[in-house]
Amino acid sequence: MTKVGVLVGSLRKESYSKKLAKNVMGYFPEGFETELIEIGNLPFYNQDFDDENNAPEVLHEFRQKIGECDAFLFVTPEYNRSIPAVLKNALDTASRPKTDNKWGGKPAAIISQSPGGIGGFGANHHLRQMLTCVNVPVLQQPEAYIGNVATLMNESGAITNEGTAEFLQKFVVKFVDFIKRFED
Ligand code: FNR
Repeated sequence: MTKVGVLVGSLRKESYSKKLAKNVMGYFPEGFETELIEIGNLPFYNQDFDDENNAPEVLHEFRQKIGECDAFLFVTPEYNRSIPAVLKNALDTASRPKTDNKWGGKPAAIISQSPGGIGGFGANHHLRQMLTCVNVPVLQQPEAYIGNVATLMNESGAITNEGTAEFLQKFVVKFVDFIKRFED
């Protein structure tokens, strides 16, 4: 079983990112398990936590969870043309201590979204830059910038726009092929 950790860059209860993520998690084929990983309960990263005796329990649990994943799907909004701080915090947290970077070498894909027309392009590319530093190879094509997101789903969060659903299903097919390239 290949385990894909899903990280959502918004803590908002009615988050479009979270709703999109839940749809996309349903598109993975047999043999793939997806898990939404909580990032809102992490303290702000502090380098003192690199001494594991100083690290709070929640941080150990998060790092262990990231370590157990084989791949990652990031679904994020854009905040001021970058990723939300909560997602950056999660990236930093599991990247240290430097000798035990839990992300390293595992493949990932990014979906950015916005109620606006640009689809979170800035966040998507800032995240790519950060993932380079933590040694995470990112699916290059197709790119997923989901614009006008509020018009694409119903109130319960199901995607109602057929074109978007088809695009995201194909995106997952490509992501799965990409993940398989990294399997032993
Ligand atoms: C935003 N929003 C936003 N949208 C965008 O397309 N580009 C941007 O740079 C920003 N900047 C921004 C900053 C902050 C602090 C907030 C709170 C919001 C709007 C944002 O895309 C919108 O609120 C989304 O609905 C947030 O995603 P979730 O919470 O629905 O997943």
